[in-house]
Amino acid sequence: EILIGLVGSEMCIRDRPERMRKPLEDLKIVQTASWVPDQVIDNDDLSRIMDTSDDWIQSRTGIKRRHISKHENTADLASKTGQLLLEKSGWQAEELDLILVATMSPDAYTPSTAAIVQGKLQAKNAVAFDVSAACSGFVYGLAVASQMMSTGMVKKAMVIGSEVLSKLIDWHDRTTAVLFGDGAGGVLLEKVPVKAPTLLGLQLKTFGELSNELSAGMTSSGNTFPKPLTELTPFKMNGRAVYRFATHEVPESILQASAQNKLTLDQIDVFLLHQANARIIKQVAKRLKQPLEKFPINIAEYGNTSAASEPILLDECVEKGMIKRGDILALSGFGGGLTTGTIILRY
Ligand code: COA
Repeated sequence: EILIGLVGSEMCIRDRPERMRKPLEDLKIVQTASWVPDQVIDNDDLSRIMDTSDDWIQSRTGIKRRHISKHENTADLASKTGQLLLEKSGWQAEELDLILVATMSPDAYTPSTAAIVQGKLQAKNAVAFDVSAACSGFVYGLAVASQMMSTGMVKKAMVIGSEVLSKLIDWHDRTTAVLFGDGAGGVLLEKVPVKAPTLLGLQLKTFGELSNELSAGMTSSGNTFPKPLTELTPFKMNGRAVYRFATHEVPESILQASAQNKLTLDQIDVFLLHQANARIIKQVAKRLKQPLEKFPINIAEYGNTSAASEPILLDECVEKGMIKRGDILALSGFGGGLTTGTIILRY
């Protein structure tokens, strides 16, 4: 059995003392699902509107195409994922206690995207709110849900990562426009009796001093009275700094999460990393001295979909039979904040 404790600004797990032991219950990923918009924009489409090329984009990032929303907003993609999760699992919407949507591209400041999803699904017994941790958002969302489940407050949870990043992109800026895409993915979690613990490691870390390295949707601090509202700013990123950050901090995050329950990296079956750049994933695999085959990559099809990238990848791997019950998964996110986060789960 495991207990989550707070240590400084980082979260970790330590063994629960013997006297506190109760019959073992832990969280189970009951279902996965994902949904992406129909419209596909490939690298050649982009090279017709900006000074770039398929060759440059593929060689630097591994991206071939991305799905870009025409009319659907973030809550629409999340609701479709939520609907699929319910259909595939046979769960009723009223059974849900919690709906979390991890997103950096919400429909609005208020209501939260999760509240819109809760309304659309008619999940009237679920409390719903958003988690904002950019590309680490899905792992942060799983962390919040797992903690609410460990106290007994929540038994059944829906955690979705959903993004319409295309609305935050300056389509004249080739340094960011080629990288991102839209989509959503999610899971249903349930607290169930288990033979062995399923939550095996959790590490979150925030680097606020690096917040300027990656930003989107900044608002003006000046009083707008009596001027009209100003537009949000598009994506701005120091690509090289974020690359360096990711290749150093992601291995560190995975190592710290696995150390909490003395797991060796060889015991982890699949590493589901945030799909920001195939080169970053290859570099992380190399630093961890783990075979690249344990790091599925689908960035060629979707680009970087921020909080949605890991649940889309998880769903694809489950659907293809690449992830089976009992497998140990390390989900690791990194990005805006800057943030990192790793959760290790037995599927
Ligand atoms: N097409 C063609 N040329 C481009 C281009 C594009 N889309 N974007 C940039 N370039 C040019 C640059 O202007 C530069 O030209 P110069 O040498 O004449 O100045 C050259 O390509 C190299 O640019 P640079 O930024 O050094 O490339 P890079 O190898 O660092 O690759 C990234 C850029 C963004 C792909 C890479 O830094 C990266 O992946 N960073 C991490 C970003 C990320 O994943 N962010 C999300 C985290 S959640």
